Amino acid sequence: MHKDISQVLFSQEEIEACAKRMGEQISADYAGKKLLLVTVLKGAFIFMADLARFIDGDVEIDFMAVSSYGAEAKSSGVVRIIKDLEASVEGRHVLIVEDILDSGLTLKYLLRNIRSRRPLSIEVAALLLKEGKQQTDVNCKYVGFICPDEFVVGYGLDYAEMYRNLPYIGVLSPDVYS
Ligand code: IMP
Ligand code: MG
Repeated sequence: MHKDISQVLFSQEEIEACAKRMGEQISADYAGKKLLLVTVLKGAFIFMADLARFIDGDVEIDFMAVSSYGAEAKSSGVVRIIKDLEASVEGRHVLIVEDILDSGLTLKYLLRNIRSRRPLSIEVAALLLKEGKQQTDVNCKYVGFICPDEFVVGYGLDYAEMYRNLPYIGVLSPDVYS
């Protein structure tokens, strides 16, 4: 285990099983439909790579980069688009893939933004949902794990751009950011 991690919450094996389960559900729900998977960079890049391989069907993948944090461990609610989608979403079935839903403010902004481009449908798949933290009701159709209210890193999730490479999701020791 990395020295800055105080506890492993979800192991590599648990995450893989979760991606498989979610991928199978998505395959069934979108059977016969072409899906546009929107990866929210950077945090969701590893989850997307795993999830997409468990989706059986026609899939296109695009990327969008937003920033809501800077090097702090809590949400500012301010969202900035750093990279926009290349694909047109009009008339498409869109599934936004997110790493973690904390306040929900990032996702709320993204949903409003993408909805204005008139997709045929839009849903959200999030690997983690922080219990009781949502300040806004975002409808997240697919949730991997309910996560305790701790700052977590690994499997794509960062603190100040570090720890994304950890193959598990763990609690960042508060000594690192206090
Ligand atoms: P929200 O706008 O508060 O829902 O925050 C969403 C974004 O903040 C996520 O996509 C993550 O990039 C980041 N984030 C929120 N909580 C954590 C955490 O515990 N660890 C790492 N990143 C987080
Ligand atoms: Mg982040």
